[in-house]
Amino acid sequence: MCGIIGYIGKQKAAPVILEGLKRLEYRGYDSAGVATLYDGHFDTAKKAGRVDGLIKATKAQKLPGTTGIGHTRWATHGGVTDTNAHPHISNDGKIALIHNGVIENYVGIKKFLTGKGYTFTSETDTEVLCNLIDYHYQKEPVTKEGSRFLEAVRKTLRHVEGTYGIAVMCADCPAEIVAARKGSPLILGVGDGEYMLASDVAAIISRTQNVVYLKDGEMVHMTAKNFTITTLEAEDVSPVIDTVSWNIEDAELNGYAHFMEKEIFEQPAALENTMRGRFSEDGSTAQFGGLNISAADFRQIDRFHFLACGSAWHACLVAEHLIERFARVPVEVDYASEFRYRNTPLDRSTLFFTVSQSGETIDTLAAMREAKRKGYKVLAINNVVGSTIAREADGGVYQHVGPEIGVASTKAFTSQLLLGAMLALYIGRMRDMSFSDGVDYVNALKSAPQLVRQVLEQAPKIREIAKRYAHYHDFLFLGRLSLFPVALEGALKLKEISYIHAEGYPAAEMKHGPIALISEQCPSLFLVPAGEMFNKVVSSMQEIKARKGKIIAVLSTGCELPAGLADDVIHIPECHEAVLPIIATVPVQLLSYYITVELGRDVDKPRNLAKSVTVE
Ligand code: G6P
Repeated sequence: MCGIIGYIGKQKAAPVILEGLKRLEYRGYDSAGVATLYDGHFDTAKKAGRVDGLIKATKAQKLPGTTGIGHTRWATHGGVTDTNAHPHISNDGKIALIHNGVIENYVGIKKFLTGKGYTFTSETDTEVLCNLIDYHYQKEPVTKEGSRFLEAVRKTLRHVEGTYGIAVMCADCPAEIVAARKGSPLILGVGDGEYMLASDVAAIISRTQNVVYLKDGEMVHMTAKNFTITTLEAEDVSPVIDTVSWNIEDAELNGYAHFMEKEIFEQPAALENTMRGRFSEDGSTAQFGGLNISAADFRQIDRFHFLACGSAWHACLVAEHLIERFARVPVEVDYASEFRYRNTPLDRSTLFFTVSQSGETIDTLAAMREAKRKGYKVLAINNVVGSTIAREADGGVYQHVGPEIGVASTKAFTSQLLLGAMLALYIGRMRDMSFSDGVDYVNALKSAPQLVRQVLEQAPKIREIAKRYAHYHDFLFLGRLSLFPVALEGALKLKEISYIHAEGYPAAEMKHGPIALISEQCPSLFLVPAGEMFNKVVSSMQEIKARKGKIIAVLSTGCELPAGLADDVIHIPECHEAVLPIIATVPVQLLSYYITVELGRDVDKPRNLAKSVTVE
């Protein structure tokens, strides 16, 4: 949520910041703003709406100053207005601040500051924080010149409860930025004669691939010439500079209309990258480099507990099915947001997994910390390298699918499905799965990219189908076993980007409620793979048809449906159970995408959503 960026260098800061804000927009896009420091004062431009609106409606790109900060907002405290947009400036014009997170004790601080004569123009917790920094700055002994600004921020943060990633400028300190994080991501970019701050790599990748991932409780003090990192307790931290493995092209549209489209079509390559080097030499099992847990210890695990949010939670449900089916080990899947407050009884021989594309989702992070506090090992499946969850986990597996920029997850989701299938294989082969079943399984996983390509070839046909269904207001997505979570994912994709109401259900369960919705006005998408459930799913389809419901069938090639049962059919290749959820996901992604394009809605930035949810 909220994107933050800062720049110090030789160039004018505003154009660099605006370019970064465009790339950060997927984190939040209610409003945007930029401030630069020039000649002892701040020049600020803020606007409700998109970054393009900020650029058009203001002279933002013309702001002078080679030090600056910028922000894209996902509103928490206070409506979407120009005034509530960041940066916020203190009453006396000395301090400028951008903030990602929530200051939980802002009401008390506001009361305190009001008593000291401060006034507030916005409804935000950020403006309160900004003035508290100013208050401490005014009180900080002048003898400590140079560090006075840094120490004022440090003192302020000791009084703050909640979460923050902040970047602060002080009008008295040309070419200085102080930044800090607790619970909200923040990285420092080390460029050629310039330094940048950002809530993620995408914002600064055009200028540098060298980054320092700041940890919770760390502060960075940047000048035009160098930077220092300290903790809130003023201890020095030696920085570790990492190199980002992807580059600017990975974060561009490269001819696609939307990032979601690009990321759907990138899936064959993404799956190849996810599994590269992760099969044993004899081709009968999976191997993972970073689990930090020996095979012998892994074998002792009696239960796996998965924690995630959103699409990643759906991926966990598929992993549950595959691990229980192929490894015969019980699996529990929890919404991270529920787990952290549920105080569920746990078996001591449980191993936790968190699954998160961003590695920053606050509920998943908090749930992981809760499991660790109780003494459990937690492994993480993440895409974003160096993310907070990846760093705090006991071990884990990176997805290696490159940046996912469309707010609706696509390639990260199918990569998580693949890793779940690989885990089922890994655990299964430690237990009862035979060598030859393992070899078949590995070969099936290796065929996944090619099978996905075959589905992608049907994109023009799916686009035509989408045109016929774009005007409906309700949709059901129905599937069984490992395709029930895919039905959930299909419904989520459709509702989050097209705003069409959609529900995912196990196909047979549909009789217990959702069937009441069925009419000519509420179509259903059935996932109908070949196999033991085929006839049962067909029976459910008959029940819908008998009530005049329209049906789209995602059907395995080679299977036949009774004449007239489905109004539209999308074929998927027949495949191994382990890859079926991946293959069946692609048509529902494409259908949701094309329906949304047909409706003219903003595919990559759906209303009210944000890519990485870093507030509770
Ligand atoms: C947000 C995104 C979803 C994503 C979920 C979990 O809601 O819009 O696409 O599935 O967060 O994100 P994570 O980064 O933890 O996978």
